[in-house]
Amino acid sequence: MKIDILTLFPEMFDGVFTESIIKRAREDKKVEINLINFRDYTNDPHNKVDDTPYGGGSGMVLMCQPIFDCVKSLRTNDSKVILLTPSGKVYNQSMAYDLSHEKHLIIICGHYEGFDERIRSICDLEISIGDYVLTGGEIPAMVLVDSIVRLLPGVIKEESHIEDSFNEETLLDYPTYTKPRVYEGMEVPEVLISGDHKKIDEYRYQESIKRTKERRPDLLDK
Ligand code: ADE
Repeated sequence: MKIDILTLFPEMFDGVFTESIIKRAREDKKVEINLINFRDYTNDPHNKVDDTPYGGGSGMVLMCQPIFDCVKSLRTNDSKVILLTPSGKVYNQSMAYDLSHEKHLIIICGHYEGFDERIRSICDLEISIGDYVLTGGEIPAMVLVDSIVRLLPGVIKEESHIEDSFNEETLLDYPTYTKPRVYEGMEVPEVLISGDHKKIDEYRYQESIKRTKERRPDLLDK
């Protein structure tokens, strides 16, 4: 998969894309991630990418030209163009699965006060990562990329189970433990030490259901 991210702040992605699982996925060529500063595409002699809103109002609005030209230079028949905005469709795990099957994602990070409405016309999908407003689309882009890359074949070990996992999409995680067996008086449940994998699977499944019922009953309605 190839992911192109259009941003005015490519340095913000340092660390998130250069460490841990995403770093390895890039090194192993499971994903190619390019950070593209769309300021490089502006025709403006002063390198402007935004301007004041027609009709008045506060703040600056991202202009069409740099983003249109940047997308035009990258887009192919296999591309899906995503705009990050709080007015987009609210992101969830099943959207992450769908996007993990795409060949090429072009992700546009908005910034400042907003973007020219006509930018919407070149996008296939608008996504919000939640009902709150961030200062820009960079953090949402990191969220999207992280959630998608971990689903790509060979990126994490559980890969073979992920796709048809009922749990991952609809249930919260079961509790996990590591050594020691007793810590400050709190014991690891006996079943996990039993070595009986059928029993362990059943225990985990039941714990997932219990936790989901308690904390996110809305997920069980699915
Ligand atoms: N840009 C600002 N806030 C956002 C959000 N919640 N989701 C996606 N993009 C955003």
